[in-house]
Amino acid sequence: MNITYLPAIYDAIQWLLAGNVSEYFAKYISLLKGQRVLDACCGTGLAADMIGTNYFGFDINFRYLKMNAKKYDRKKIFFQMDATAWSIYPASFDSAVMVCAAHHFPDEALHNLFSNIIQSISGRFVFIDIVTVTNPFVKILHRLDVGKYIRSVEENLSLLRSHFELAAHEVFFADRRLYKYLYVDCRR
Ligand SMILES: C[S@@+](CC[C@H](N)C(=O)[O-])C[C@H]1O[C@@H](n2cnc3c(N)ncnc32)[C@H](O)[C@@H]1O
Repeated sequence: MNITYLPAIYDAIQWLLAGNVSEYFAKYISLLKGQRVLDACCGTGLAADMIGTNYFGFDINFRYLKMNAKKYDRKKIFFQMDATAWSIYPASFDSAVMVCAAHHFPDEALHNLFSNIIQSISGRFVFIDIVTVTNPFVKILHRLDVGKYIRSVEENLSLLRSHFELAAHEVFFADRRLYKYLYVDCRR
């Protein structure tokens, strides 16, 4: 087992390498506050705090979900699902968010995932992920990442464009200025 599958280790590594990313992501994710939101590949629940009670997060890692369920004490819904074996009833949510997870999927799986997301929402999809950089140290960190499909800004936009209308996008650094992120505001 990879040690990052343990929630405390995952959160500690994130903080060490990327700092407090929540502050940087909040302005995008909180756009969905008050809506019925699906958080695809929710991990240890980073987006859960930024969204109201109509929050539904899924992940493949049961350990993360167990910790989230304890933390939120039924105020938010977490469930286990493999994103590549989608089993959610279509059009169940207002919006969806996917944070730093697209790089875990090869193109074909990501196309399927986006097409499932678009069928599950009536409104907006907030996409955030790390993107490729030229900094050699960060390139090493990327190589060590569990997700093996880190893409350039253009590659991400092109994949998203084949499913959604892209209303806006921004590229930004967070704490430590190591990882570079892409935010895309996608619409049905
Ligand atoms: C880098 S983490 C990001 C987690 C969270 N969204 C965040 O920003 O903190 C990537 C997440 O994708 C999840 N994941 C990877 N493959 C998955 C799959 N096939 N189905 C569902 N979740 C998956 C991992 O378990 C992990 O929680």
